[in-house]
Amino acid sequence: MNVDEAIDKRRALRAFDTRPVPDGVITELIEAMRLSPSCNNNQPWRVIVARDQGSLGAVRASLPRGNGWATRAPLILVVCSRLEDDCKLSDRRDYFLFSTGLAVGEMLLRATEMGLTAHPIAGYDALAIKEGLGIPADHVLITLVICGYPGTDVSMLSDKQLMAEVERPARLPVGDNFFDGRWGRPWS
Ligand SMILES: Cc1cc2nc3c(=O)[nH]c(=O)nc-3n(C[C@H](O)[C@H](O)[C@H](O)COP(=O)(O)O)c2cc1C
Repeated sequence: MNVDEAIDKRRALRAFDTRPVPDGVITELIEAMRLSPSCNNNQPWRVIVARDQGSLGAVRASLPRGNGWATRAPLILVVCSRLEDDCKLSDRRDYFLFSTGLAVGEMLLRATEMGLTAHPIAGYDALAIKEGLGIPADHVLITLVICGYPGTDVSMLSDKQLMAEVERPARLPVGDNFFDGRWGRPWS
């Protein structure tokens, strides 16, 4: 699969099959993150691979009803970092979230290429997961990436979530976010 195909095909889908993700596939996801760029090659990400019932149970228990669909997934990557582990530069440029986000982005594309859904979420009880999995207090639990093979059971999805399964949520007009040469001059 070409990169443009992976970008186009990647979706934050919510219907998962319960079949496990093989270890070799998990290794590929890890490699995609390891090779990602980071400020000064600091590699500030720390990731817990949750696939056994103990760690999955702790994560699943932290999910609100709206993210209940994630309880069907057989693999959840718990992505953490901390301020001190990456560049801290002028004008509030603290890079730990940026570098970690880049690594997750690369991993999402690799997952897509291998036929997986990899869906990052922010809706969870971070403190409960940190306690349950022994994550140090000075680390930020940035995202959970809900991973697995696409499935057909949509019983846990709301109407809005069901719609998003079939149609990618709309993006803003390009000129809202992209400027031509000067702040505020819309790219067209
Ligand atoms: C930082 C972040 C947090 C997100 N949190 C949630 C979440 O808590 N629950 C959820 O169902 N989807 C979550 N999503 C998925 C987005 O809703 C989804 O990416 C967006 O609607 C665009 O859809 P697409 O990725 O399929 O193109 C999150 C995505 C990101 C990047």
